[in-house]
Amino acid sequence: MSTESTELTVGIIGGGGWLGRSIGSAMLEKGVLPPAALILSSRSGQVNGFDAWPEVRLTADNRQLTRQADVVVLSVRPEQFADVSIEAVGKLIISFMAGVSVDSLIERTGSQRIIRAMPNAAAEIGQSYTPWFATEQVSAADKHFTQRMFEACGSTDEVTSEANLDYLTGLVGSGAAYPALLADAMLAHALARGLPRNVALRAVQGVVAGASQLLDGAHMLPAEMLQAMLDYRGTTAAGLQTMIEAGFRDAVGAGLDAAEAAAQHMKARYAHPAV
Ligand SMILES: NC(=O)c1ccc[n+]([C@@H]2O[C@H](COP(=O)([O-])OP(=O)(O)OC[C@H]3O[C@@H](n4cnc5c(N)ncnc54)[C@H](OP(=O)(O)O)[C@@H]3O)[C@@H](O)[C@H]2O)c1
Repeated sequence: MSTESTELTVGIIGGGGWLGRSIGSAMLEKGVLPPAALILSSRSGQVNGFDAWPEVRLTADNRQLTRQADVVVLSVRPEQFADVSIEAVGKLIISFMAGVSVDSLIERTGSQRIIRAMPNAAAEIGQSYTPWFATEQVSAADKHFTQRMFEACGSTDEVTSEANLDYLTGLVGSGAAYPALLADAMLAHALARGLPRNVALRAVQGVVAGASQLLDGAHMLPAEMLQAMLDYRGTTAAGLQTMIEAGFRDAVGAGLDAAEAAAQHMKARYAHPAV
């Protein structure tokens, strides 16, 4: 039976990595866990970034971490998982690994209480949107803890099928990469038109990272923003029409299809890590 979240001990395997460190420190900063309830592992047993919390336990021994933790978070890269050997029967497992299926996680950990989650790099600044999928054996208390974990570093939703999570791996896991492609294309265009680099860069950042906050849910939906701009019939409408006619939506769809296919391919590959 699971305990209330504040009483849980959480072990993050790979706790010194980009995501492990971001989510571990976010939980401490937001009071989801007291520092003494957090254990982090790396292969050397050294983890940077937690000096402010000397009670956090560090280890190179994943089996010891698993024995001491109620919740085991898997935050190593998928290709590093083959070297992680743990017995976690009955424990809550939360995996961030792209392309490692629930079936593989059950087989490799011995637990049926599995959550697959897909945060992204913006966890570092408290802005990750993190969808997660849970097996039937995951309790309401487990889900409550999971929700608090991901709210500590952004926003979150449970999805009810693993296929949804696989799809979102290609969309959400990429974090800022797709907006970065748009920003880079705009920057290249502005530079080609002879704008000073600092002005071009600040203009693009202002549009892609600044003005896009109007889409954060509190103001406008994407379709409402587009319609408002098309109805305005100004320069933006001309730009939008031409981008759409040049195949912008098709290119985005094809890219997301490819990312989803890559996630499925990884799932097949990591189902048989020795192959
Ligand atoms: N970063 C993202 O934006 C993102 C987005 C979505 C999903 N993910 C998923 O999140 C997971 C972690 O990604 P990341 O970007 O945080 O990777 P990362 O920065 O490379 O972190 C992985 C950490 O795992 C540690 N590690 C490797 N083998 C270990 C072992 N046997 N025992 C204990 N620790 C071990 C490494 O530390 P040592 O080398 O010191 O051992 C490293 O700090 C990946 O599976 C990835 O698919 C990441």
